[in-house]
Amino acid sequence: MPAAIMLREHGGPEVLRPETVSLGPPGAGELRLRQTAIGVNFHDCYVRSGLYRTLSLPGIPGLEAAGIVEAIGPSVTGFAPGDRIAYVEPRYGAYAEARLLAADRAVKLPETVSDQDAASLLLKGLTAELLLHEVQPVGPGDTILAHAAAGGVGRLLCQLASHLGATVIGTVGSPAKAAIARAAGCAHTILYREEDFVARVREITAGRGVQVAFDSVGRDTFTGSLACLALRGHLVNFGQSSGAVPPFEVSRLAAGSFRLSQPIMFHYLTGRAELERIADRLFARLATGVLTAERGAAYPLREAAAAHAALESRSATGALLLVP
Ligand SMILES: NC(=O)c1ccc[n+]([C@@H]2O[C@H](COP(=O)([O-])OP(=O)(O)OC[C@H]3O[C@@H](n4cnc5c(N)ncnc54)[C@H](OP(=O)(O)O)[C@@H]3O)[C@@H](O)[C@H]2O)c1
Repeated sequence: MPAAIMLREHGGPEVLRPETVSLGPPGAGELRLRQTAIGVNFHDCYVRSGLYRTLSLPGIPGLEAAGIVEAIGPSVTGFAPGDRIAYVEPRYGAYAEARLLAADRAVKLPETVSDQDAASLLLKGLTAELLLHEVQPVGPGDTILAHAAAGGVGRLLCQLASHLGATVIGTVGSPAKAAIARAAGCAHTILYREEDFVARVREITAGRGVQVAFDSVGRDTFTGSLACLALRGHLVNFGQSSGAVPPFEVSRLAAGSFRLSQPIMFHYLTGRAELERIADRLFARLATGVLTAERGAAYPLREAAAAHAALESRSATGALLLVP
């Protein structure tokens, strides 16, 4: 029977405990997958703590992984046993040695992309692609602000935005993370735990502000991000690593005809064709070096709690993995 991390109650990392689960054959439209690498995302911490009540308990958390198809169910086309695939699955279940998966969530991996890179990059890379192409396209002449610029999504966002020609200002929690952010294309970095990032952004942009602020930190940075915007600027609040943003008076947007959005990646990946199109673009960017995998620590699956503790302590860099 395969091992899995079962969440039976909300709480700290210690509630992530290994168990064994039974797994039947794949049903219609399903694949049975032996997983080789599992991506850890900040979203998983919200699910574990209970901030997000999107997984019914008891349940297996985790949104993304890579692995090998072991068996296919009736009516599955386009996949065969032995295929290497990766997936993002909003219905969770990724923290497991093996699982059943709806085939329409899976993408085949090209030879150029390893299982570990796929598991560490698929969700975060798709998010960066969607933020910079669908939510708010950026290009030459734009100056943008990206918080947590050395983080999983943040580093990829900075790489892609600078490749697209934007000038990127990245905030980071330590000098070591500033070096990572600069290597990812940030023209300027700000140590936002020590410096007033609003004042620094105004200084860097000669008082104009930024066209876009990509804010995944939430509570601690939201007000400052708004204050960094140029006229008609766009605050894209796509995460809340420091906590949820408190209620907000919409009329504050009128101060600069600002725009505010809270995009969710899965709302932009509504069909199979969309998933394949954007995943292909992501894999091509990896193959050409526009985006690079910078894997963080890899933990045995049974030590998922340690991975969550590292992510929440802000000590982690790169994308964390669980290995079954
Ligand atoms: N909307 C979507 O569809 C979508 C998709 C993917 C991810 N996300 C969101 O994007 C964010 C980044 O996800 P990720 O998995 O790549 O994580 P991550 O950025 O690698 O980790 C979070 C980072 O946030 C910063 N941070 C600032 N205040 C923090 C605090 N109080 N506690 C913990 N961290 C704090 C830390 O960087 P510093 O030390 O540099 O401050 C930390 O490393 C998350 O909020 C996630 O939910 C949203």
